[in-house]
Amino acid sequence: MKFLAGNMRQLLGSGHPALDTVAKYYTKAEGKHVRPLIVLLMSRATARTPKTTRYNGQQSAESIDNPISPISILSDNNPELPSTKSPTKTESSYPAGDSEVLPSQRRLAEITELIHTASLLHDDVIDHSVSRRGSPSANLEFGNKMAVLGGDFLLSRASVALARLRDPEVTELLSTVIANLVEGEFMQLKNTARDEKNPVWTEDTISYYLQKTYLKSASLISKSCRAAALLGSSDKRTVEAAYAYGKNLGLAFQLVDDMLDYTISTQELGKPAGADLELGLATAPLLFAWKNNPELGGLVGRKFAGEGDVTRARDLVIQSNGIEQTRALAEEYASRAIAAISAFPESDAKEGLIEMAIKTLKRRK
Ligand code: FPP
Ligand code: MG
Ligand code: MG
Repeated sequence: MKFLAGNMRQLLGSGHPALDTVAKYYTKAEGKHVRPLIVLLMSRATARTPKTTRYNGQQSAESIDNPISPISILSDNNPELPSTKSPTKTESSYPAGDSEVLPSQRRLAEITELIHTASLLHDDVIDHSVSRRGSPSANLEFGNKMAVLGGDFLLSRASVALARLRDPEVTELLSTVIANLVEGEFMQLKNTARDEKNPVWTEDTISYYLQKTYLKSASLISKSCRAAALLGSSDKRTVEAAYAYGKNLGLAFQLVDDMLDYTISTQELGKPAGADLELGLATAPLLFAWKNNPELGGLVGRKFAGEGDVTRARDLVIQSNGIEQTRALAEEYASRAIAAISAFPESDAKEGLIEMAIKTLKRRK
């Protein structure tokens, strides 16, 4: 974790000063770095599980560690086209010390955070956000165009680093995540599958929401956990367990996020609270409230855009048991995450993963 931010910034160097600044902007503020922490814990927790032989290309610590250097864009030293000459190797980004986490798994943790950060740059444009982690959002600071291009640049550098792992299965997994994030975000443009004016609550309402939530919020961590186990050559059962842990934890994480939007102040949250209704989004607390109160259907249908809709919807959610039901569902997913890794050998890392699931439920930001 100590090397994470520095290594990410090294991956993000650009010879264009403005692009360099925008690309590194969200790596400056102290992020929570939850995802890379989980990837590293999963790597350690699976280190002593049964192993299998698998193809993993010509991956070597050296090829992973080669700097994608902050070159001048005017020179022909183009980092997107790795030269056949071996780049000058600077001090290793991965000093020895943790024999249980492979260099490829550490790089995976960085790639995961790069993809997440890219999605935040785009997300803040889509959501018209003005703050992130207690500071002005990138779109506010640099404008939409630079924020979008900055996000694209992060994705590109994440892709180069991914290709350098020389592991086709892991490349496929993380590339699918990028598609999943976009699919989830597209599903979120509608609150229900059919997007009617006056929708009626059905069981599909919740499954649509959970599918969207998986794609938007759980796909990255679940597939990254799976990738960590694959890079460690873990057997199939371990790989599936790692994936199940990430999937359930990701779902729990987003349910808590959706709950905090109703229960915590902007100041404590570090980003605007109550933003979901303002954005027209019907999340879990409201969907549970709607089951017992058909009035909410009309508001959902017009995305809370009518006069007083946001206040009315919030009041109805707060009077309902929607928030409690959301918390209960988050608890269920967190328990499933813990159960998924029960067969892993006892270790500090396994304890860490369990603690992450518990902390997800307790977090207030
Ligand atoms: C945060 O959600 C947003 C995401 C987890 C994913 C956003 C995905 C995209 C914008 C698609 C493009 C993807 C890439 C990889 C460039 P939120 O708005 O609910 O959370 P917030 O409160 O932190 O803003
Ligand atoms: Mg947002
Ligand atoms: Mg969003």
